Amino acid sequence: MTRRKLLMGNWKMYKTHTEAVDFARRLAERESELPHGPEYAVCPPFTALASLGAALPRRVQLGAQNVHFEPQGAFTGEVSAGMLAALGVRYVIVGHSERRHIFNESDAWVRRKVRAAVSAGLIPVVCVGEDLRQRELDHTLRVVERQTLAGLAELSPQEAASCVIAYEPVWAIGSGLTPTPADADRIIRSIRDVVAAEKGEAAAAAVRILYGGSVKPDNIASFTSRPDIDGALVGGASLDPDSFLQMAEAVAEGV
Ligand code: PGA
Repeated sequence: MTRRKLLMGNWKMYKTHTEAVDFARRLAERESELPHGPEYAVCPPFTALASLGAALPRRVQLGAQNVHFEPQGAFTGEVSAGMLAALGVRYVIVGHSERRHIFNESDAWVRRKVRAAVSAGLIPVVCVGEDLRQRELDHTLRVVERQTLAGLAELSPQEAASCVIAYEPVWAIGSGLTPTPADADRIIRSIRDVVAAEKGEAAAAAVRILYGGSVKPDNIASFTSRPDIDGALVGGASLDPDSFLQMAEAVAEGV
C-alpha cells in the first residue's frame, strides 16, 4: 500500500482574500517548480475560499479549517460541509487544537463534524495531540487514542481509510518546539495501530497520518521522509509561497 504524501497549509486567521489570491498567483508563476508526487493543499479562512480556489494552480487543492455538522439551519456564523463542497473544497480540518482549546470543541463535536464532512464528499483532516501537561504525565498515547477513536467513530472502515489524521502535539504548535522525528514516528505508528484495532488492517494501511507543529523548510524532511509519516500540516511556514515551495521540494525528495 503506497500512501501519497500530503503537504497541507493551515493559514489559520491570516490573509484577506486578496492576499490569498496574491499567494496563489505567486505559486502559479512557479508551478513548474512544484514537484510531482506529493499532494498539496492550502486551507485559508472561509472568506478566501472562493477566490483562492479560482486562482490556485490545479495541483494545489483547497481545504477549509472548520465545518459545522448540520447540513443547514439556524446556526449563526457556521458553515456546512455541503457549502464547502459546493465551492470545490476537498479537505476540511476538524478538531484542530485551537478549536478544541479556544472554542471548547469536544470529541463529540469532532465525531459529528467528521461524519458530516465524509457524507458531503469532503476528506476530513482529524487533528489529535496531547498538551504539555498530558505529555509530562505520560498520557500522550491515551489522549491520541481517545481523540482518534472519537473522530472516526461514525465511519465505516472504507470511509476511515480515506481520511487524514494529523498528529499535532499542542505544545509544538507555533512554539518552535517539536518532538524528535523518532518520537513523532512512534506516536503516529501507535495511532495507526488504533485505527487497525478499530477499523481493520486495510483501513490502517490506507489512512494517511501527518505530523504538524512547528514544521519549517529546514525540518520538514526529517519527519516526512519516514515511511509512517505521510506528510505535514503546516501553519506559519505555509503562508509564504517561497517557503511552501521549499517544503514541497523537501517532501518530494523523501518520496
Ligand atoms: P505551526 O502550526 O506550523 O505554525 O506550528 C501548525 C498547526 O497549527 O496546524
